[in-house]
Amino acid sequence: MDWFGIAKALHIISVIAWMAGMLYLPRLFVYHAQTDAGTPQSETFKVMERRLLRAIMNPAMGGTWVFGGAMLALAPAWLSDGWLHAKLMLVVAMTFVHHLFGYWRKTFERDENRRSPRFYRLWNEMPTLLLIGIVFLVVLKPF
Ligand code: HEM
Repeated sequence: MDWFGIAKALHIISVIAWMAGMLYLPRLFVYHAQTDAGTPQSETFKVMERRLLRAIMNPAMGGTWVFGGAMLALAPAWLSDGWLHAKLMLVVAMTFVHHLFGYWRKTFERDENRRSPRFYRLWNEMPTLLLIGIVFLVVLKPF
């Protein structure tokens, strides 16, 4: 059995699902921040945000870590490589941003958002920048 190949396929599937959510959730925040609290639209955004985070993003983030870790357990020589250390730093940053989004989702849930659509539009770019850095590091392994 090609356990490494299986872990890598599951890793990539998890990464795709996680990134789909990391790119879409702040976009929902942009629209939600333009909506008045208590309106039907605002309540619909709450459901969309909660389901996206709980049903897709949280399990996908877990899968990314578990299957990435499984590959390192099967190929531990990479643990001393610079590209992996740099990648892991960016992945920790991505995980931090994920939790930040989770915190902001709760403020929307409680109708307590005070941040502007522009604020969320700017944060919408952060996962994209981290994603570009991570993929170049893992594919090129430059150091
Ligand atoms: C959670 C911690 C993570 C660990 C421990 C980890 C570890 C790994 C390892 C060991 C590989 C195999 C490299 C190879 O076969 O050349 C890999 C592949 C890959 N990882 Fe991760 N990874 C993590 C998170 C991420 C994240 C967050 C992303 C993207 C946002 C990502 C994107 C990729 C991609 C696209 C590949 C396939 C690269 C290729 O086949 O050349 N990883 N990862």
